[in-house]
Amino acid sequence: MSISRRSFIKGTAAATLLADLTIVKQVAAETASSQIQEAAEQRGYRAPKDDYSLDPNVLYLNHASIGTVPRVVQEAHIGYMKLCETNPWLYIWSAPWVEPQEVIRGKAAKLMGCLPSETVLTHNTTECFNLLANGLPLGRGDEVLYSSLNHISASTCWHNLAPRRGFSVRSFHFPISDCTSLTAEEIVSLYEREIGPNTRVLALPDIDNTVGIRHPLKAIADMAHSKGVEWVVVDGAQSAGMVPIDLRDSGVDAYATSAHKWIQTPKGLGLAFLKTSLQAALNPMWVKHTYSEESHPIQMYEDYSTRALPALIAFGDALDYQAQTPQAEREAHHIHLWKEMQHIVSSSDRLKWKSPTSWDISAALYSVEVVGKSSSSVASRIYADHGIVVRPFTSDEINAIRISPNLINDVNDLEKIARVMVG
Ligand SMILES: Cc1ncc(COP(=O)(O)O)c(C=O)c1O
Repeated sequence: MSISRRSFIKGTAAATLLADLTIVKQVAAETASSQIQEAAEQRGYRAPKDDYSLDPNVLYLNHASIGTVPRVVQEAHIGYMKLCETNPWLYIWSAPWVEPQEVIRGKAAKLMGCLPSETVLTHNTTECFNLLANGLPLGRGDEVLYSSLNHISASTCWHNLAPRRGFSVRSFHFPISDCTSLTAEEIVSLYEREIGPNTRVLALPDIDNTVGIRHPLKAIADMAHSKGVEWVVVDGAQSAGMVPIDLRDSGVDAYATSAHKWIQTPKGLGLAFLKTSLQAALNPMWVKHTYSEESHPIQMYEDYSTRALPALIAFGDALDYQAQTPQAEREAHHIHLWKEMQHIVSSSDRLKWKSPTSWDISAALYSVEVVGKSSSSVASRIYADHGIVVRPFTSDEINAIRISPNLINDVNDLEKIARVMVG
C-alpha cells in the first residue's frame, strides 16, 4: 500500500487515526524506504555528500565522535514527530508503534549477527554499561578488569557501584605509543597476562576511540573464558555500522553501541546485545510494571516508561539506509582510505602515523601526529581556518589528531587535511 505520509498528515488525520488503526500502523511502518531505495539506485550504492546536510564549508572527519544523519532519515524522523503530534496518546501509549519497534529490533539483530531476543534498543553505549554494572550479580571477591584503552563510559560505571556492592575494579596500562607494530596475538597476550583468579568481568572496546585498535574479540573472549572470566563485555561504540560484526559466534557475552555514530540514527539511540545466558543473571536497572520476572523478555532492559518514539522509529530508516551499502563495499572503502592516509603520512617528514598498520586490527579511525605541534592547537587552527572537524588527543602517551572518515569522504579530503595540518 502506498500512502504518502505528507498527504496523510495534511488530511483528516485525527479522525482517520482513531477510526482505522490498521491504516495508522501502515503509515507508521511506511518509512522513507521507497525514497531510500530510489536514492540508492540512482547513486549505485554510494553515499555522496548530498545525502547529508553538512555545511559545505565543513570538512567532517569526525564520524567517530558523532555521526551525520542522512536527509531521508531526518525527514522520516520529522514525519514521525508530526504524526505523533496528531494524537500523542495513540502513538506513545497505544498500538501503532509497538510492532514497528519489533521490526526495528529484527533489523538491528541482523546488523549485529544475533537474535532479536538478545537485542536491546537503548539510548547509547553508556546506558548498557550502567545496565551491566548495576545488574550483574557481582559482590565481594569479584573483580572487574579493563585496560587504559577503555572509554570512560565503559569504566566509570563499575567504579561507581564497587564500594556499595563490595567487588573490586582493576585497570591496567595498554601501551598505545608503540601500537604501529602491534599484532592480534600481542593484543590477546596483553589481556591474558592481566586476568587474575578473581576476574569475573572483562570490559574492553571492540575498537578503541583514540588510535582505533580493533580487538580480536573471539580470541580474547575464548581465552578469557578459559581462564575463568564469566562475562566478556564489549564497548562497540566505534564498530557497529563501521565494520562487519557477527556477535553470535564471537564468544562475547554483551556488546553495546551508540547508533548515533556509525549507524547514523537520530541522536540518543543505541543498541545492545545481551547473550541469552547473560540475561539469565542480569537484573534490569529500571523497573516498570509491564513485565514480570517470569516472562523475562528482552524489552525488560529497555522499558522504563515514556521515550522519544519518533526517533526510535526513525532507527528503522537509518538501518535501511545503512543496509544499502553492502558490508564488503563499505569495508573496501575504509581500507582504501586507511591505506591512502598511511601513504600520505609516510611521504611527509612532519607527520607520523600513530595507529596499527595491519587492517585486521585497524579501523576507519586513525591518529596522526604533527611533529613538534600540540594536537589541540592544530585541531583548533584547522577548524578555524578550514572548517575541518577532527578530534585531538593529548596525553603523556599521545599527541595526535584522530581522523575518522566515512563513506562520504574521499582521498581528496585526506590530502587536504594532511596539507593543512602541517601548514
Ligand atoms: C569507544 C566509546 N565508547 C563509549 C562512548 C560513549 O558513547 P555514548 O555517549 O553515546 O554513550 C564513546 C563516545 O565517543 C566511545 O567513543
